[in-house]
Amino acid sequence: MRSAPPRARRAEIIGWGMCVPTRVVTNDDLAQMLDTSDDWIRSRTGIAQRHIAGEHESSAQLAIAAARAALEVADANPREIDLVIVGTTTPDHVFPSTACQVQAALGATHAGAFDLSAACSGFVYALATAHQAIASGEHDVVLVIGVDCLSRRLNWEDRSTCVLFGDGAGAVLLRATEGPAGILATVLGADGSGGDVLIIPAGGCAMPLTAETLEQNLHTLHMNGQEVYRFATRVLPAATEQVVHKAGLTLHDVDVIIPHQANRRIVETASKRLKVPLERFVINIATYGNTSAGSIPIALCEAIAQGRIAPGSTIVLVGFGAGLTWGAVAIKWGAPSAEAAAPFYRHWWRRLLYRWAALRGGWLRTSRAVTVWLIRRTTRRDTYPKNLG
Ligand code: UT7
Repeated sequence: MRSAPPRARRAEIIGWGMCVPTRVVTNDDLAQMLDTSDDWIRSRTGIAQRHIAGEHESSAQLAIAAARAALEVADANPREIDLVIVGTTTPDHVFPSTACQVQAALGATHAGAFDLSAACSGFVYALATAHQAIASGEHDVVLVIGVDCLSRRLNWEDRSTCVLFGDGAGAVLLRATEGPAGILATVLGADGSGGDVLIIPAGGCAMPLTAETLEQNLHTLHMNGQEVYRFATRVLPAATEQVVHKAGLTLHDVDVIIPHQANRRIVETASKRLKVPLERFVINIATYGNTSAGSIPIALCEAIAQGRIAPGSTIVLVGFGAGLTWGAVAIKWGAPSAEAAAPFYRHWWRRLLYRWAALRGGWLRTSRAVTVWLIRRTTRRDTYPKNLG
């Protein structure tokens, strides 16, 4: 008797969550400060409004809130997480990484953590990386977040870019499975020769910030919109077809396509090229604008909340962005939708864990400061003779 072939180990999404800043900026608000109009922005992009981070909001804060929501849906303990990957190009700091800030805030004490830089493709890249980490057997539970606060890197006097973007975060929790549901295939691509068409020139080590670079707005986003448009309308359908083929499926098998939300017209063109009806695409750009690495997981959360994704659905996530980069992930959905929320006492217990994580962080910081102080005192006493003291 022949034994059954070994089942593939893959990553399944078991929790999801999103967070956007509270402040909403409409097209009409922008028209009061720039030479633009609601009509131009809507007709050229599909955007009606965007959420913009306030002074006290940041990528890490949005990421932490989205991650907590994902843990609640999965009813998971943060100590189960063994890897945190954050796709972002607007981290709170150059270092420490946003992923480390998330790890500390959640109390994910058994997790490694790192940021991944692939601009608007950041979430898809992070998801594909997490899938490989799980499929290889190295990791069992991985938290993946896509977050950006590009509003901090926009020139608010440049109408050709600042009207396009918003801030936001989305997160998913992945667990190893040998069942039929989970990530079926991934595709990643890059063309670094197109790096200059979407770039923040200054602020890295090639062009450190100076009064001059600030004066010339080189620390803000610069884009050749038409070049990016051409690139996007080419790679979005191509990556979708490629990942579907790699998963052993056809486009007819795909129930929902969740594209990066950069421009409604890009999605319409992809729909025509793929000959897939527009109704099968998730489009929420009107509400959030382009939230960069946050856009796909935010659209995923909304599609789940609207009942567009159910156990057994086949979905494709497909993104593109600066780099140039692109990527797609095909998923067989397995998780029940959100009503399977945990009982109240579990929320309360998880909140206690977060409070404990904050206390633990504070305690570790204090004990490090005390240790340094003690070492300095001892060293001074040993190094200097008493009479020089
Ligand atoms: O995450 C990836 C990031 N980015 C993208 O995917 C963006 C891809 N590109 C696009 O979505 C489109 O190229 C844009 C929405 C950025 C621009 O749309 P377009 O149809 O390519 O417009 P355009 O750049 O050709 O500009 C047309 C006109 C120009 O005026 P003139 O030269 O024809 O007189 C612009 O100055 O529209 C003008 N314009 C505006 N007018 C009012 C540009 N921005 C604005 C604005 N309001 N905000």
